[in-house]
Order: sequence, then C-alpha cells, then structure tokens
Amino acid sequence: MCGIVGYVGHRQAAEILVEGLRRLEYRGYDSSGVAVLSPEGELKIVKKAGRLDLLAESLKASPLAGTIGIGHTRWATHGPATDENAHPHVGGSDLLAVVHNGVIDNFRPLRERLEAEGRCFLSATDTEVIAHLIASHLEQQILARAYDVKNGEPREVLVAAVRGALAELHGTLGLAVLFRGHPDVIIAARRGSPLVIGVGDGEHFLASDPSPLVGRTEQIVYLADHELAVITAQSLRVIHRDQGHVSPRVDKLEIDHDDVELCGYPHYMLKEIHEQPEAIENALRGRLDVDAATARFGGLNLTPPQLKRINRVIMTGCGTSWHAGLAGEYMIEELARLPVEVEYASELRYRNPPLGSNSLLFAITQSGETADTLAAMRETQRKGHSALAICNVVGSSIAKEAHGGIYLHAGPEIGVASTKAFTSQCTVLAMLALFFGRMHHLSYEAGTRIIGELKELPDKVRQTLSCHEAVRRIAAKYCQCTNFLYLGRQYNFPAALEGALKLKEISYIHAEGYPAAEMKHGPIALVDEHTPSVFLVPQSYVFDKVLANMEEIKARGGPIIAVVDSEDSRAAELADDVIHVPPVAEFLQPIVNVVPLQLLAYHIAVLRGCDVDKPRNLAKSVTVE
Ligand code: G6P
Repeated sequence: MCGIVGYVGHRQAAEILVEGLRRLEYRGYDSSGVAVLSPEGELKIVKKAGRLDLLAESLKASPLAGTIGIGHTRWATHGPATDENAHPHVGGSDLLAVVHNGVIDNFRPLRERLEAEGRCFLSATDTEVIAHLIASHLEQQILARAYDVKNGEPREVLVAAVRGALAELHGTLGLAVLFRGHPDVIIAARRGSPLVIGVGDGEHFLASDPSPLVGRTEQIVYLADHELAVITAQSLRVIHRDQGHVSPRVDKLEIDHDDVELCGYPHYMLKEIHEQPEAIENALRGRLDVDAATARFGGLNLTPPQLKRINRVIMTGCGTSWHAGLAGEYMIEELARLPVEVEYASELRYRNPPLGSNSLLFAITQSGETADTLAAMRETQRKGHSALAICNVVGSSIAKEAHGGIYLHAGPEIGVASTKAFTSQCTVLAMLALFFGRMHHLSYEAGTRIIGELKELPDKVRQTLSCHEAVRRIAAKYCQCTNFLYLGRQYNFPAALEGALKLKEISYIHAEGYPAAEMKHGPIALVDEHTPSVFLVPQSYVFDKVLANMEEIKARGGPIIAVVDSEDSRAAELADDVIHVPPVAEFLQPIVNVVPLQLLAYHIAVLRGCDVDKPRNLAKSVTVE
C-alpha cells in the first residue's frame, strides 16, 4: 500500500526512481508520481493516475534531468485516484515537494487553519496538508532567522521546519521531502510507515521496503519510528525525536536479484506457488530437534518455565494470515491441548477480551506492517501480555515490536495474493504445535512421528505441484462461472477459506469458503448447475461425512471439483472433476491441499484476463486501518 522511493547521488534520478517504483508496484497502488530537482534547483513534478507505465511513458516523452528526486505510488485513501491527488504534493508556492505513506488523522483542522492562512490546496489528500505545514514552518523559520530564501537556507532550517510540522501531525507516516534550491538533500521521516535507506558509493537510496535496493547496494539502514534522516549523496544523519542524533546501524541486505525478478515465470504469483517446497524447507531448517523429538526456536525470548505456564493462546492477523491462524488453532489444540482463539486483528484491537496472566499472543503477518495487526499486538502488550510475531519480513514493525518471534524465511512475496507465506506460516504453526505438545502430554514417539511427517512435507508439496496441468484444464471448464463454493471440514476448513479468498482476490469471482456441513445452513441456496463446489476430501476421520455433504450438492445439480488423496473411488465417482494430491498427516493437509486451490484461482484469473499480481483495489501491505 503506497510506496516511497528517493535518490540522491551522481546519476540521473528519474530512471532510478521509476525502476524503484516498479519494484514497489506489488504493494498495490492506483497512481504514481516523481519530483526531481533540476540542475537549476527547480522542482519538476510529473504524476499520473493509473498504471506506472503511464508515468514512465510521460517521462520518456519529456525527460526530467537531475540527480536528486523522490517518487511515490499511491493507494487512494483521501480522494480518488486522479492526477491531482497523486503524490508528490507541493507546499509554499513550489518551495518543497512531499511524498507520504500513511494517514494523517488531524488533517481536517490543519487544512482549515492552513487555508485560513491563505494557502491554496489543489488536492483532496491528507498529504497535501503535510506539504503546506512544512512550508509554513519553513517560512516562519526563515522569517525568525532572517535568512535569504534566494541564497538558500542552511540545512538546519529545513530540518527544524520538518520537525516542527511532525510535532503537529497526528497519525501514521513515512515521508520524504525535497526542497527547491537544495539539490543536495532529502529529508525523510518515519512514524508507523516503514522506510529504509540504501547506502551506496557516493549515493543514497530511499524506499518503503528493501526491494528497490536490490542490485543497487547491499548496505541497508532500517529507520525506526520517530527517526528523521537527513540524506545527501555523501552523508546520512539520523535524528531521533527524543534521543537526538543517533548513529545509523548499517545491515546487510539479505535479498538477492532472483528473489525480486520473475525468473521466466509469467507472474510472481505462479513463481511463488512453485517456490513453496523451498520456502517450507527454509521454515523447517534448523528447527527440528530429532534427539528431543521436538521443534526449537531461537527467538521466542521466553524461558521454558514461562512457556510451560502458558495456558491460553490468541492468534491474530488479517486475510490469509488469519486463515493460517485458524489452521494453527486446529493444530495446537489437537497436538498440544492448549486452548487457542483466533481473532481478526481489526476486531481484537478494539475488543477487551478477558486474558489471564498466562495468555500468549501470536501476531501472524507476512509483511509485518499490517496496521490492524500491529495495533492489536500493541494493545495486548499494553495490558502486560507477551506477544510474539510469526512474520516474513525481517526488520518490519511487528517483528521489531514483538517480544520475540519466528521468521518464516520464505523470501520476498511479491504477488498481492499470498501463497508461499500461507504455507510457511502453517508450517511454523505445525512446529509450534509440536513444540507446545512436547512440553505437555505429547510422547517422544508421537514427537518423532510428527518430525518425520514434517520432514517429508516439502517433497509432498513438490509432488502436489504436478497437478498443475489437471488444474489448468478444470480452470478452463469453469472460468466463466460467477459463484464458487469451497468446502472442507476440520483441518481442511481453513484451506477452503483460503481457496475462496484466492479466487475472490485475483479473479473477482464471488466465492465462499465454508465448513462442508455448515453449507446446509445457507450457502446451499446458491447451488445450481452454474455454481461449482470445490470439495477438499482427503482421507480423514470425517471422510465419509464429507462424502455425504458432496451427495447433498450433487442432489441439487451442483458441479463438484474434488481434491482427493486416495484411491478411494467414492469421492471421484461423485465428482465431476478430480484433482489428486499426495496423502499427508491430517494436521498437514491444509498445507498440501491449498496448493491446487492457489493454482485454480491463478488459472481462472489468467483465463479471465485479470491482472494476477496486481488485482484491482487490493494492496499487499495494508498500512492503514
Ligand atoms: C492484505 C493482503 C493479503 C494479506 C493481508 C494480511 O490484505 O492483500 O494477502 O493476507 O493483507 O497481510 P500480512 O502482511 O499481515 O500477512
């Protein structure tokens, strides 16, 4: 959701900015823009509603010269996706340009005040308030210190103006500011929306996440909340709101080129579906303790006695991560006999559930930046409870603020529809179930069996991917349908929810995931010959029950697509179309069985001509409430 880039150095900025924005496209956006300072120190701005290609074409037709600039992809919050509302926004008669991620809560009163001062607003955005507010502070500084605007104010005045504005702004922000007449400095600030700085040789790069830095530099600085960075080609200064100057910690960028390129695949989503066996291997690596027949995690930051005392687990997250939490509930309750509740983060943050002193929260998130998940975690921590993260993005806000946690190590996930993060999250949750189980009643023998099953999982997912062609044929048969049901029971219910979500997200087809038997209490009214039901019907102790649910659909003329794992012909006989997956232990079934559902959604979306990696209205990282 929204992306910021910046560059200051010795190369032409516009090209670097557009390439950086391309790497951020996956976050979701509906307009884009850049501001470059010309060699004469004038602000030159181009912004366009729609796809980034429009901006790139416009810059090709009329190139912007200059070696310093900022850029932005906007996901509309305040005001529709128009050229006027696209960032950058200017303040103080082209005195400065601002790009911003996040939401300014008090933008209305600030706008009224600034309009009363005679400032003219050109957009409906909250961001434009920031531009005018910084300009207002800058003008006050200049007046107070009697500097000459024409000859350029010293850099400290710019810093003071941005800090003054920040103190008045409520809400979340990551921002970058470029100043007319200052061809050597970008000021960036972070409060709630991530920003990273790439340190190059005589140049610096700014971005919302590390992907634009890949191939540019391997040295990265993660800005923390309430930090402001003064970035020039040769220097980087970081000032914390309360602590003053702090020395920036330079980390090594852990992402390589193949992680962010398509590598021959037509879409990132398909690439990431096929990366799942390796992603699961990475999640398992070093975490299975064969001798002790358990799992081990390096970063939980809780002592064994503290962990042993945990008597209630809360899982929270949004979207796909919430579905993983639901799979985790089935796993942990069965294997560890610990009560688990799964809460939508957007609900949990405003709920006040009674939590005992031995409750433990898991915030499940791919990006580590989802605003609701972060807020739910903070609220739980505020009440004194331990909160751990199950997170993919290293150094993200949730990873940093959690008391401890487990990284997925799935590599960057770029397709907006989450795939490998889901199966990696479920794998981590299966290991957690083993871990807590072994702390309680689970025997050594059972632990050893589970470890064996987990070790086989990457190969099982590899075998599952061979259903690709069969799924493509089924997609062609049903791609014109406008309603789908996804049905499964027990461990396969979360997978059914996730399958339905995938289809909705990328093909815009209405789909509902339901517990197979619950379907009788409403969704069955939707069933007709044009409404396929996708049944997850692997061998399990509810196999016969699911067959009965299939009969109920069949009796009403609904087409059935069945995902099966056995030679038991009964499911195949009832189904119109069959997808075969390898058998795995029941607690691992959501991980294997979701794979054909990801592929089904993918192929249907491709056949319908949808933009698979950038579905309309969606954002990869939802940093607003
Ligand atoms: C957005 C994405 C989903 C994702 C959800 C939670 O809606 O489009 O794919 O599941 O956010 O994101 P998180 O990064 O917290 O897992």
